[in-house]
Amino acid sequence: MTKNLPTLLVDIKPGVIDLGWGHPSSRLHPFNEVSEASSRMFSKGDNSALQYGATQGYGPFLESLASFLSDQEAYLPDVDAHNLFLTAGASQALDLAATMYADSGDTVVVEEPTYFVIEKIFREHSLNIVGVPTDEDGLDTDALQEVLEKGLRPKFLYTIPTFQNPTASSLTEQRRVHLVALANKYNFQIFADEVYQLIYFDQRPPRPMMYFDSGNRVISFGSFSKILAPGLRTGWIHSSRKVVGKLSAAALTFSGGGFNHYASALIKEVIDLGHLESNVKKLKTEYLSRALEMDKSLKEHFGTSVSYSFPKGGYYFWLKFPAGFDSDSFLQSAEENGVSFRPGNAFSESGKFSRYLRLTYTLFESDEIREGVKRLAEAYKNT
Ligand SMILES: Cc1ncc(COP(=O)(O)O)c(C=O)c1O
Repeated sequence: MTKNLPTLLVDIKPGVIDLGWGHPSSRLHPFNEVSEASSRMFSKGDNSALQYGATQGYGPFLESLASFLSDQEAYLPDVDAHNLFLTAGASQALDLAATMYADSGDTVVVEEPTYFVIEKIFREHSLNIVGVPTDEDGLDTDALQEVLEKGLRPKFLYTIPTFQNPTASSLTEQRRVHLVALANKYNFQIFADEVYQLIYFDQRPPRPMMYFDSGNRVISFGSFSKILAPGLRTGWIHSSRKVVGKLSAAALTFSGGGFNHYASALIKEVIDLGHLESNVKKLKTEYLSRALEMDKSLKEHFGTSVSYSFPKGGYYFWLKFPAGFDSDSFLQSAEENGVSFRPGNAFSESGKFSRYLRLTYTLFESDEIREGVKRLAEAYKNT
């Protein structure tokens, strides 16, 4: 007898086009490519993927990853495998880094708005969270400087510098330099969540944060969730050898060996077969065409009643509505009309973002995006 237990994280009400989830579409999963990589892995007759893995990560995987990243225009030309650390995805890695770089009661800084689960993750470490504003150029580093000058002493700052979730903005190079200078002066780590770095459309984004750091400040979080498949639960940290050494020596790492060792051995084959490269290209093309569809539908159905910047990459549209609009209360009427989204205040405990909501263009197909935006506009007109 089946127990009807859930299969996936997404939980979408029947008939609703849910533009709230920041997930990739299942149609685009590289099923055949992963299957081929898996056969190739087993055909080699090497069973080391089934053993506990090295704490830093499976060496051959780290080397393939370093070579892949070095070839990416949006990344850095000379990534060294010694600077990479295997993780079970950015979420797990951020949790581990929070364990290693802050103690309960410490203060940490996040962007306002920010990735909607991060404040919960840091709260589970009993950290004090201070928000710093962002604008179309990303984190406002002058505002950060001001609070630091007034005496704030965070252990780390969490930022999504490229194609931010939810705003889609990217931190300018000038601000990246400023941020690292502040981290050096005031002695804090920069947790750079760069899971969208490789998903850009026409123009390559600013260089990743590691480019701007000559010391041990930046800990960069990468993930295969947005460029291959989130079910693989695998990612990486890119940082100095000192940071990689500290994470490799963590009790949790030592107890279980390298995180997601098996999946990393599989991904090594995916990379070596050239499938990661082609998958990223495919996703960029598909997502751009979906983003264009969303843009067109928003213009057609909302006209000038919402404002936003067209995303240059990543997953999201961040819509601003007229003053007085409350996206939390709008959610119910939207869902009654068969569409959903993430209200602005989900992205900050400050409660400052009632006028905003986030739409994702990656999970649904273009015709569904068109229909979803139309339903959203109908619900809006009826409020
Ligand atoms: C900014 C950001 N960080 C982390 C994650 C989760 O990453 P992972 O699947 O690698 O744990 C997401 C997923 O939406 C995200 O948007």
